[in-house]
Amino acid sequence: MNVSDIIALKNKRKITMLTAYDYPIASLVDKAGIDIILVGDSLANVVLGLESTTQVGMPEMLHHAKAVNRAVKNALLIGDMPYDSYQLAPQESVVNAQRFISEAGCQGVKLEWFDNCLAVTAQITAAGIPVMGHIGLTPQTAQRLGGFKCQGKDAQAARQLINQAEELEKNGCFAIVLECIPDKLAGLITKKIKIPTIGIGAGIHCDGQVLVINDLLGLFERYTPKFVKKYTNLSPLILEAIQNFKNEVVQEKFPGPEHSFTIKEEELKKIEPSI
Ligand code: KIV
Repeated sequence: MNVSDIIALKNKRKITMLTAYDYPIASLVDKAGIDIILVGDSLANVVLGLESTTQVGMPEMLHHAKAVNRAVKNALLIGDMPYDSYQLAPQESVVNAQRFISEAGCQGVKLEWFDNCLAVTAQITAAGIPVMGHIGLTPQTAQRLGGFKCQGKDAQAARQLINQAEELEKNGCFAIVLECIPDKLAGLITKKIKIPTIGIGAGIHCDGQVLVINDLLGLFERYTPKFVKKYTNLSPLILEAIQNFKNEVVQEKFPGPEHSFTIKEEELKKIEPSI
């Protein structure tokens, strides 16, 4: 998959996107034929146990993006620009975007909407790096949006989101994530722009859908937004497996002969004749 393949999917079939943060899960996501893998800064919450996505920086994001890249054979790989790499330091944004490409093997980057977003997007795309936009609920600046809640619910806010999407398209974005906005507004935006929209909490009318992989797998228990669908619930299964291990070790049932190695009796006798 490359950026042109993704754009060409608009109005043909729905686009699938998932996050991944490590080699084993990325291998499975890629094997399943998902179109886009995002090394999301949700890494902060679902993997590193931090409160806010603003608490991860370039070192953590690159570390995980490199691991994911080792697994990916078909999907388009996108690195999520952490808050301090472009919102706190817009002058560093092209250099940081380039690091996702040259050091971690990503094919593009994603940035969340912020005041200076259009200038930064234009600079990164001018450097030849594909950019995915992200509007609606933008977790890096959620406090400024009144918290983690649905955006664009009145005409003025909805119009603002339509403008943002149109401006991002003009400034070179190849796709836009629409997070937590009303489904009909997402449908309107999807019709108004030529590049694909990828929804999360934005209803059925988007060109594609994205979820955080740990939410989909039931591997993140701290909170579950309304828009998440758990396709399985791995946490209790993993807990049960760990408890079984613990019990079998304490009860001396593990390891069994099938997990152990042997030595010939005559060899043993050479070191301990009394045995
Ligand atoms: O960081 C992330 O996981 C994201 C997705 C929710 C789109 O930005």
